[in-house]
Amino acid sequence: MARIFLSHSTTDERQAVALKHWLGQNGSDDVFLDVDPQRGLIAGERWQEALKRAADRCEAVLFVISPAWAKSKWCLAEFLLTKSLNKRIFGLVLKDEAIGELPSEMTSEWQLCHLVGPGKTEMVTCCLREKSVAVDFLTEGLIWLKAGLQQVGLHAEFFHWPPQDDPERAPYRGLQPLDTADAAIYFGRDAEILQGLDKLRGMRTLGAESLFVILGASDTGKSSCLRPGLLPRLTRDDRHFFPLRPIRPERSPLFGEHGLDMACRLLGECRFGRPIDREHHDMVGPFEGRPNFSGAKQFVYVRYDPDLSQPGLDALGLADIKATNVQTLDSIEHIADIQKVGEAFARKHLNVAEHLRGFI
Ligand SMILES: Nc1ncnc2c1ncn2[C@@H]1O[C@H](COP(=O)(O)OP(=O)(O)OP(=O)(O)O)[C@@H](O)[C@H]1O
Ligand SMILES: [Mg+2]
Repeated sequence: MARIFLSHSTTDERQAVALKHWLGQNGSDDVFLDVDPQRGLIAGERWQEALKRAADRCEAVLFVISPAWAKSKWCLAEFLLTKSLNKRIFGLVLKDEAIGELPSEMTSEWQLCHLVGPGKTEMVTCCLREKSVAVDFLTEGLIWLKAGLQQVGLHAEFFHWPPQDDPERAPYRGLQPLDTADAAIYFGRDAEILQGLDKLRGMRTLGAESLFVILGASDTGKSSCLRPGLLPRLTRDDRHFFPLRPIRPERSPLFGEHGLDMACRLLGECRFGRPIDREHHDMVGPFEGRPNFSGAKQFVYVRYDPDLSQPGLDALGLADIKATNVQTLDSIEHIADIQKVGEAFARKHLNVAEHLRGFI
């Protein structure tokens, strides 16, 4: 089972212990909280060591934010370590003023959750050093925290089965590969998924690396690690990621049934583009009066790709250009011809007002 880390200042020990108790009652029973009356060097280092050791099990780190925590020297150290491990961070606010005392680089990426303030509260009762402790938290904040943790929950149990849009789906896939809809029945790869998500989050933050490769011998589960593993979890983290559908090169990597353009046409509004392949209509605009995809379109795009066959060039009025000269990618030798194709295509098809509608 995955693990949650709680970072807090000694001053907020009661609240931290109560939160741990509440987390336990709400499905997160593996919470690391170091309660030490003298939270000095040993406790601080212990926390960091424990986080490093549990890096491939820890799904989220919760920071209990108060003025004391903001001033504590451990706050920054624990935050920096958490950030360097690319963990999901939640800020649980015990005093609003404390947020102002934190540098904005710390708070901009977090999901903040307010546990005190005006509104209905819930009392959490638990035990600290053999004494009973009762703490009030905002009910709305707790509901929000629970929903947030559900979202970062990696394990299969955090996904629906059967999938809502496929109630008859068979859990035994037979010869069919496991797909994104099978996240709820894909087990045994939590550590790899967590490592992958942390790595991708780090790549997104730093922006230095842009290629993430899953490499393995044949049939070891590479595709499964991506489809029912990483993809549904990245999709849920929609504040940071926007995954396209998997693309399979097959015979036509760009425009085939599982090509790049198909992935874009499902999620994006294609304002201009040739048909995708023989099986599908062009998916530009509605199909027979119906939208071509039931989900919301997330972006708009156009596909300008002239037909470079001889009849295609003839149709553009470029019969004098030899097709084979302009079919080679980045052909320097015939760059002037390629330029002519682009210009002729633009004259015939580019419609700035329509294609850039809403942008100009
Ligand atoms: N965690 C898992 N639990 C049960 N079955 C699994 C798991 N991961 C993969 N499989 C099954 O193992 C087989 C191989 O998986 P998958 O197709 O993902 O491997 P692959 O490495 O992508 O293979 P290839 O090299 O052929 O592309 C599939 O039948 C898949 O359903
Ligand atoms: Mg595969």
